[in-house]
Amino acid sequence: MSSVYFPLPVQKASFLHSSIGRKWIVAITGILLIGFITIHLLGNLSIFLGPEVMNAYAARLHKLGPFLWMARLGLLVVAGLHIFYTMVLWRENLCANPQKYAVRKSLETTICARAMRLSGLVIVSFLLFHLAQFTWKWFHPEYKEWVDCLGQHDVYRMVVSAFASPWVTGFYLLSVGLLAMHLSHGIGSLFQTLGLTTQKLRSYLERTAFLIAWVFFLGYASIPVAVFLKFLAH
Ligand code: HEM
Repeated sequence: MSSVYFPLPVQKASFLHSSIGRKWIVAITGILLIGFITIHLLGNLSIFLGPEVMNAYAARLHKLGPFLWMARLGLLVVAGLHIFYTMVLWRENLCANPQKYAVRKSLETTICARAMRLSGLVIVSFLLFHLAQFTWKWFHPEYKEWVDCLGQHDVYRMVVSAFASPWVTGFYLLSVGLLAMHLSHGIGSLFQTLGLTTQKLRSYLERTAFLIAWVFFLGYASIPVAVFLKFLAH
């Protein structure tokens, strides 16, 4: 009679506390973050279609009101879980066998894998700068007043003005370069965590991850570079 003690929650709890459970959380949150950067990139590329298209896209997003806030909150939770469980796994790896870890690290891993924590840190710093610049408009409060002839916020003009500075352009290129390195290793690892890779498929999937990561780089880098080369102007 008393042999069954709520097996499902116990199993769930032990899964979340196991190394594989944590890796799954990092993988799933990673996929959700890739979803965000894909949508954000597609929205940003509308800059090449002109101010009307980009400003209308931004206005439509802002009209979502409470749904936009729910999406922002979701994104924050997902990013928080991704960072938290990555740190937990890293600490566990270090504590489990520091010597073995050090040897394996120097022999087997690629530059992208070794730079995961550094690239992650730069991405977080970049994000804080990026939000301060375009979302909170702390550096240039006048951005808030910029409207186009339809009375919509002039996001196009704001982005083009921001990249007039070579320092800002340089920082963006560095950050999206590190983002690509982070994605290159991250996407490869998530194929492994989700059990999608075999010895045979391994090098093919690694090359696919590399390709996806550098497509993101080219997409994101194209905007500051186009402004810098005066291909986009206001
Ligand atoms: C050249 C590259 C980029 C450009 C031109 C750009 C442009 C923008 C703009 C204009 C906004 C404000 C949108 C608005 O409030 O109307 C924004 C917000 C944001 N961007 Fe970017 N972005 C770039 C790269 C990135 C990257 C690489 C990431 C993530 C790693 C990112 C994450 C975000 C986030 C989280 C927000 C806040 C979204 C919100 O307020 O709801 N951006 N971006």
